[in-house]
Amino acid sequence: MTDRRDEAVSVLRENRHDGYTIPSATLYPYQWNWDSAFIAVGLAGVDPEAAKRELRTLLSAMWDNGMAPQIAFWADAEGYFPGPDEWEAGNGDVQTSGITQPPVVVPAARHVYETTGDDAFRDELLPLLDRHLSWWVDERSFDGDTVYVRHPWATGMDDSPAWLSVLDSFDPEDITDDLDYVREDRKSDELSDQRPTDWDYDRYVALVRQGKALDWDEAALREACPFLVEDVLTNSIFVRACDDLAALYAAAGDESKANEWRRQAEHSRAGMRERLWDEELGTFVSYDRVNDRKLRVNSVAGLTSVFGEVPTNEQFASLRTNLRENFLRYDYGCPSYVGPDMDYDRYWRGPVWMNVNWLLVDGLRRYGATETADRIEQDSLELLDREGFREYFNPETGAGRGSDRFSWSAALYLDWTTDHS
Ligand code: SER
Repeated sequence: MTDRRDEAVSVLRENRHDGYTIPSATLYPYQWNWDSAFIAVGLAGVDPEAAKRELRTLLSAMWDNGMAPQIAFWADAEGYFPGPDEWEAGNGDVQTSGITQPPVVVPAARHVYETTGDDAFRDELLPLLDRHLSWWVDERSFDGDTVYVRHPWATGMDDSPAWLSVLDSFDPEDITDDLDYVREDRKSDELSDQRPTDWDYDRYVALVRQGKALDWDEAALREACPFLVEDVLTNSIFVRACDDLAALYAAAGDESKANEWRRQAEHSRAGMRERLWDEELGTFVSYDRVNDRKLRVNSVAGLTSVFGEVPTNEQFASLRTNLRENFLRYDYGCPSYVGPDMDYDRYWRGPVWMNVNWLLVDGLRRYGATETADRIEQDSLELLDREGFREYFNPETGAGRGSDRFSWSAALYLDWTTDHS
């Protein structure tokens, strides 16, 4: 193993708790949903038992209705807001947040299964993964095709400029009468400039307090929540998750279930092509269901549609031009957003993130766009080799930003440097 691989393994070991891995000891001291899924992908090649355990623990935080929470608060920890008492949510076994995150857990489960060939693990996970994806269709879809989220944190791209107009469309004081809180995420002056602004945070907190006041009741929130967004990243991952669940069912010999989920994937893909495609920008965009409008922003989220094989060949040609001309003109691909609100150092307003690059590389290879995929993979490895396992990176200088010893950066380094042949 190279020194960097050894270090990646030690980051994951250091961040491992009892059955799960925290994203970062300084900023995120609990189990996060899509973080754990990316972590399991990286662990699969070096510690398959830990990879399986990561996903089992993640799925054991699932609610009875099939919601897989964004955070599971398995153990007390200091220094995170909003913690368990803010959310007042959970499944009886564990306190959790009241929102979800993109269902990377399904592609991760398939990856772990195909790496280990462990049929018992596959069969144990199948009903849980089915329950989770069924929840998306039953509770989080207006038309049965695309799915929606009700908090920017649920998209994983918290302060993406795509949400600005939605967050601006309501007054946080109209949805909660308590906007008192203390942020815990700005551990230094330098980090303050790399984290979301207070304007964004007021709205995040108001949405949490509204959810709690309504007991996280989906039907009530569907009526009251001012943020109901068909996020393109979530939908791209959802489509891929449906395909991967179908593949797991096929491997288990259940063709009827496999067909059911293949049909769902096709149906959701068709919905995305119809409503989320933006010809002028040459990308897919998110859709604001409350104000009935496309959120016409050139975020890398639109490009991740390749992970779900959503673009038609014609759409892919435009998307690839957009990727090349707008995103790959920076020294390091791929910035999380390009446009007037771009900020190279601030969270999801411009920095390069490893999990997004991993989705892009995988998806671009599916379209045979080998050179572009190689460029993004090489940029990623160069950043990780030079800067260490930072949370995000400035696309112009490559400087590491956010927290250090960040788990998914270490995990995906391991996956990229594993020989899969
Ligand atoms: N990313 C959010 C945070 O910064 C929550 O998922 O806390």
